[in-house]
Amino acid sequence: LPDPDASALTDADVALRLPRPDATSDKYRRGVIGIAAGSEHYTGAAVLAVGGAIRAGAGMVRYAGVAEPVAQVRARWPETVITTLAPGEGIEEVGRVQAWVLGPGLGTDEDALAIARSVLASDVPVLVDADALTLVAKDRTLLRRTAPVLITPHAGELSRLLDVPRARIEARGLEHVRRAAADLGVTVLLKGSTTLVAEEGRPVRINPTGSPWLATGGTGDVLAGLTGTLLAAGLSGYDAASCAAYLHGIAGQRGPLAAGDVVEAIPDVVRSIMNRLREDG
Ligand code: APR
Ligand code: MG
Repeated sequence: LPDPDASALTDADVALRLPRPDATSDKYRRGVIGIAAGSEHYTGAAVLAVGGAIRAGAGMVRYAGVAEPVAQVRARWPETVITTLAPGEGIEEVGRVQAWVLGPGLGTDEDALAIARSVLASDVPVLVDADALTLVAKDRTLLRRTAPVLITPHAGELSRLLDVPRARIEARGLEHVRRAAADLGVTVLLKGSTTLVAEEGRPVRINPTGSPWLATGGTGDVLAGLTGTLLAAGLSGYDAASCAAYLHGIAGQRGPLAAGDVVEAIPDVVRSIMNRLREDG
């Protein structure tokens, strides 16, 4: 039955919202995304998040992290502008960005907390994912800021944020994604076999794309980067999250796949969605 409080995007809805460069574009106006991810032990998450952002068409990606992930990001994505952070250092010295992605592989130690605090103290939209969600679950005051917050938990991460058992969230996703948006006052993208996007006062968007092949390590990090690019381009958290989930779901349709394959599939997916709009007039 159609639910007036829930809706799904179509190809045309996404195409209309996607940023398109034109003759007046430059890399800054297309959207500079900042990515604060990775740690000594988790370098792959940083590489995948940066990849998702670059392949989604970011004007520029600034990456801030500690030495180990910096070396990996530099080797894999030479397009990235990098700031190496000393232990305990925040992102204050990183140049201007239009949106931050915070959390994939960041760890939860004191150094990670210093990075998370500094990113959340900025005055631009922040996407909070993965380890940063663990930090926020321990100290919700981190979310007190005036610029928008988009959180992108899976059921386990939302379970810690709401203090509700994971199985209940999995069984009643719509109810819990709405509750999270209302209680935390943020936009919420709840990942799972069906991905949901909620914001108070708006219908929940039920993502119609995706496949179980996406159930492999690192695809969430790719989604974070992809979503961050749309946020940095000026989409609202609600539109960035629902459009990114839509594109990510198509990019992950054909398996078997590794998370890196999802990164490489993004440009074709974006192109085909944009061409669809042209065909539809
Ligand atoms: N069907 C469709 N899509 C799925 C399914 C499924 N059965 N299972 C997962 N997905 C999708 C989700 O919707 C999401 O887009 O795959 C992606 C998985 O993202 P995450 O749950 O964030 O997983 P990821 O970060 O890539 O890898 C697991 O997360 O919590 C951490 O410590 C954990 O390092 C681990 C990492
Ligand atoms: Mg994840």
